[in-house]
Amino acid sequence: MTERKTVKDYIRTIVDFPHEGIMFRDVTTLFSDPRGFRICVDQMLDPYAGQRIDKVVGLEARGFILGGAIAHQLGCGFVPIRKKGKLPGTTISQDYKLEYGEAIVEIHDDALQPGETVLLVDDLLATGGTAGAGIKLLKRLGAEIVGCAFIIDLPELGGRKLLEDLDMDVHVLCEFEGA
Ligand code: PRP
Ligand code: MG
Repeated sequence: MTERKTVKDYIRTIVDFPHEGIMFRDVTTLFSDPRGFRICVDQMLDPYAGQRIDKVVGLEARGFILGGAIAHQLGCGFVPIRKKGKLPGTTISQDYKLEYGEAIVEIHDDALQPGETVLLVDDLLATGGTAGAGIKLLKRLGAEIVGCAFIIDLPELGGRKLLEDLDMDVHVLCEFEGA
């Protein structure tokens, strides 16, 4: 019997994108495959299926694709964390460091009630800067973060350690070596 493909097998690597020396882990090939997308979503939510989750929170942009599917499967609501200036209502903002410079993410200030339980999702954990900023926003709204789920972790960049040092439950489906 031939071995069935794992989630990692569906991810394509594009060399030198967006800069020379970067190995870009492209999840569009995972998302476009019916079986790949289904097993990815199922595996991301698996540890949390029996727990009370009020909202799935997705980080722009690929976290929206995953978060919508996971929220539907868990039967809960979805809340976006977006790049600065995209959300129409009153927001709170959090800055975070990029390789060069800074960025800002935002959430609607009424998107979550204190004590609501949330699952934070995104496609990739690298330095942890993006997820770390998302966690700060969720904590500022008084949410209780049940876990943080990603498809990919790049262990050499230290994001997982950063999140675990914040006492987060981190769930990843696969790892790639190198940045
Ligand atoms: C990528 C990726 C994660 C983030 C991880 O998003 O989708 O969100 O970087 O990196 P970090 O752990 O070092 O913060 P990117 O900022 O490229 O934006 P996009 O998802 O909108 O394309
Ligand atoms: Mg992103």
